[in-house]
Amino acid sequence: MSTFTNNSEIKFFSGEDIPLEMHKVRMVSRVNLSPIEQRIAALKKAGCNTFLLANRDVFLDMLTDSGVNAMSEKQYAAMLMADDSYAGSETFYRLESVIQETFEKKYFLPAHQGRACENILANIFVRPGIFAIMNHHFTTTKAHIMRLGGNVIEVLKDEGWKVESDDQFKGNFDMQKLKKAVDNVGIENVAFVRTELGTNLIGGQPISLANMREMSAFCRANKIITILDASLLADNLYFIKTREAEFADHSLEDIVKEIASLMDIIYFSGRKLGCARGGGIMTSNEEFCKKMQPLVTLYEGFLTYGGMSVREMEAMAVGIRETLDIHVISQTPIFVKTLGEELVAKGIPVVTPFGGLGCHINAMKFVEHIPQDQYRAGALAAAIYLISGIRGMERGTLSEERNPDGSEHFSSMELVRLALPKRVFTLSQIKFVADRIEWLWHNKELIGGLEFEEEPKMLRFFFGKLRQIGNWQEKLMAKFLKDMPSGV
Ligand code: F0G
Repeated sequence: MSTFTNNSEIKFFSGEDIPLEMHKVRMVSRVNLSPIEQRIAALKKAGCNTFLLANRDVFLDMLTDSGVNAMSEKQYAAMLMADDSYAGSETFYRLESVIQETFEKKYFLPAHQGRACENILANIFVRPGIFAIMNHHFTTTKAHIMRLGGNVIEVLKDEGWKVESDDQFKGNFDMQKLKKAVDNVGIENVAFVRTELGTNLIGGQPISLANMREMSAFCRANKIITILDASLLADNLYFIKTREAEFADHSLEDIVKEIASLMDIIYFSGRKLGCARGGGIMTSNEEFCKKMQPLVTLYEGFLTYGGMSVREMEAMAVGIRETLDIHVISQTPIFVKTLGEELVAKGIPVVTPFGGLGCHINAMKFVEHIPQDQYRAGALAAAIYLISGIRGMERGTLSEERNPDGSEHFSSMELVRLALPKRVFTLSQIKFVADRIEWLWHNKELIGGLEFEEEPKMLRFFFGKLRQIGNWQEKLMAKFLKDMPSGV
């Protein structure tokens, strides 16, 4: 493992601040940029929902980092050594021992992805009327809790709700809010306190280890179960190491162990953590483990694969070890920072400080002329795809569930996430992204709103279909063709 603390120690003589890659690329995927006339047809076919675009119509896929991070040669090599058996495979024991060593938890239950873990945990801990308290929700987490009649309370610190800020840990709990929430609902009605690392929906913002210590001490004193969503551990780990002075000299191994020691249960999406495809739950509590085992076998698969292929489990084991290499985990944050700084320099509103996962554009401001009930962030994501072939993801009102009375639940943030899957894009591609967003910024008044054509009741953002209000997409295309006659 390297001895540098992070890549930023390597300075360019020219003084330029360039995110130097600490890896080389030895396998590539061909991408295609189709002309805007084809893209407008693809967008309409997808109901203006970037989730419904076919990859063949996408140039740079910045929808998510989930399951699409670049794997290392060691991961691919490990996949060839997988032991395929229904029960008791060597592969499982290898993964289990990596998990046990890294997180120091006794039991590991595999699952096919993060939301499968959420399903199992919700089935065990959620009943009608109960409250799950968390720094911030994630879409699938909340949907599982609500489906079983539970409620979600968010106790994020106020600064976390500010799109632009210089607070280094916007994902932190507000401890006063947490205590008040527990008092209000009564300890007996608290199912658990969930901590989300790298808080996804507010722009990949980290939580500090000091804050997790406080949260955990309070929960332990009050016998409240602590659950960690470690899906975004890699980014959060990088920020603890580089932003939290106390841990600057601690090894990543020790930081992970301390985080884990504060939690009763840890689950993760292996599509993010470990750069493979799968997930799992770990705990040292035998009673919890015994309760979860039958549900894993029922919903996921036998206890030694949990719905994952053995090849993915091998890749995950190596990927989790690689999460303890600063050069692996720094790559996304430094690329997010590079893209963020380019956009800020052009006057484009983005979430600050720059977090992990991706660069988040503030649609609330970018298209403030669009009424919020016409889905600002969804409209901006559609417009970005139309003029560039870049696929981002709406993270705003569309990603919320409606209130029980059917009214819109307006999100306090309207973001378009341009995810940066680990080690996938090059610097010139990042420059292209910044260039096209700048063009759109100069033409933003041409962007209009969206309305639903088909609206699913649950998780509507994944597969709902929308249409443009008016014909703004044609007008935007006409202006683009005027400036870029080639259409690309
Ligand atoms: N928790 C967090 C914090 C996540 O970001 C995700 C997924 C999940 C749980 C669910 O995991 O997808 O494996 O079932 N986030 C993806 C994203 C979908 O694009 O941000 P999963």
